[in-house]
Amino acid sequence: MQKILNVALANRSYPIAIGENLLSEFQHFKLKQGQRVLIVTNETIAPIYLQALIDMLENNGVKTDSVIVPDGEKYKTMETWNIILTALLANNHTRNTILIALGGGVIGDVAGFAASAYQRGIKFIQVPTTLLAQVDSSVGGKTAINHPLGKNMIGAFYQPQSVVIDLNCLKTLPQRELSAGLAEVIKYGIILDEAFFNWLESHIEDLLNLEVNALSYCIYRCCELKAQVVAADETEQDMRAILNLGHTFGHAIEAELGYGNWLHGEAVSVGMLMAAHTAKLLGKLTINDIERIKNLLIRAKLPVKRPTQMSVESYLPHMLRDKKVLSGQLRLVLPTKIGHVQVLDGIDKNVVFESIKLT
Ligand code: NAD
Ligand code: GLY
Repeated sequence: MQKILNVALANRSYPIAIGENLLSEFQHFKLKQGQRVLIVTNETIAPIYLQALIDMLENNGVKTDSVIVPDGEKYKTMETWNIILTALLANNHTRNTILIALGGGVIGDVAGFAASAYQRGIKFIQVPTTLLAQVDSSVGGKTAINHPLGKNMIGAFYQPQSVVIDLNCLKTLPQRELSAGLAEVIKYGIILDEAFFNWLESHIEDLLNLEVNALSYCIYRCCELKAQVVAADETEQDMRAILNLGHTFGHAIEAELGYGNWLHGEAVSVGMLMAAHTAKLLGKLTINDIERIKNLLIRAKLPVKRPTQMSVESYLPHMLRDKKVLSGQLRLVLPTKIGHVQVLDGIDKNVVFESIKLT
């Protein structure tokens, strides 16, 4: 069964198609005969999915080029961004070319940022192949690369023209990556939707087993929630910040331990628990809710203990570079009960240290 969802952003609105085997269905790409595309993917995904996508597009009259970049968070860099721009220039692509990001969040973020910059902006299509990218990074138009001094610090808000989510892609995804995606799934339940969190408590094993109906419902609901937030606050002036629950702590782990050592979703898992402990220390969350969050993360096969090699103090410099920081004051998204969060400014660093110690 296929589902279509709309991200409502006036003249930048776009559809998200969700279903099995969508990579072979031309209509979801919103392309026309005679158009040129550059497919951006990486050396892991290319051997599995690239040729079939090229064949399908060429059979429908689309002219394709492709560029294969190295795999991994540590390549979400200016160098990889430049490889994509060079491929566009070297193949004489014009403003009418459409870029297709075929891959996980790393490919989507770096390719989207290249699309935003090439000749001041060309259209692009997100074809997310990880659970994390299907429920989060491919939707909402955040594109970015990392800098040694901070994650996602250079980028643009740049919306795709369509998102094509093929559930079959998850069959080749390593289990650790599937679990990393579940961290962002659980995040939606905590920040916005208690009923969805309850549903996850009943279906988390179905998701780990790639049960199609459960996956389809879950991905649809996550995209629906994200689309609502993005439609309300596209450029993160206020409400969109709630999507960053756990990310301020998580980004510190990713940056301090070297990009790629802890997966983004794994760092977010531990980061969400740190945020939950901060909320508890401030009298805003019950121990029962912390236990429910922790148990669900454990069942999703996610880490719930902080990395032992990182000192408590080492989080702070990274956290102070977070994009949510206001006038040098820490600003955190804190759960106040399952399904509800609050963005709080000026949190005492000793409370933060204590919540890190408790995780
Ligand atoms: P990823 O892109 O590194 O993909 C994870 C791994 O799975 C990679 O090795 C990849 O090659 C491999 N892979 C991808 N699809 C596969 C498939 N179908 N079969 C087999 N292997 C496959 O990681 P990710 O978790 O998808 O994304 C994490 C990134 O997303 C981070 O950089 C994070 O900052 C970013 N992110 C962005 C947003 C946003 O709003 N733009 C939101 C959340 C996360
Ligand atoms: N993943 C956070 C956001 O899209 O805003």
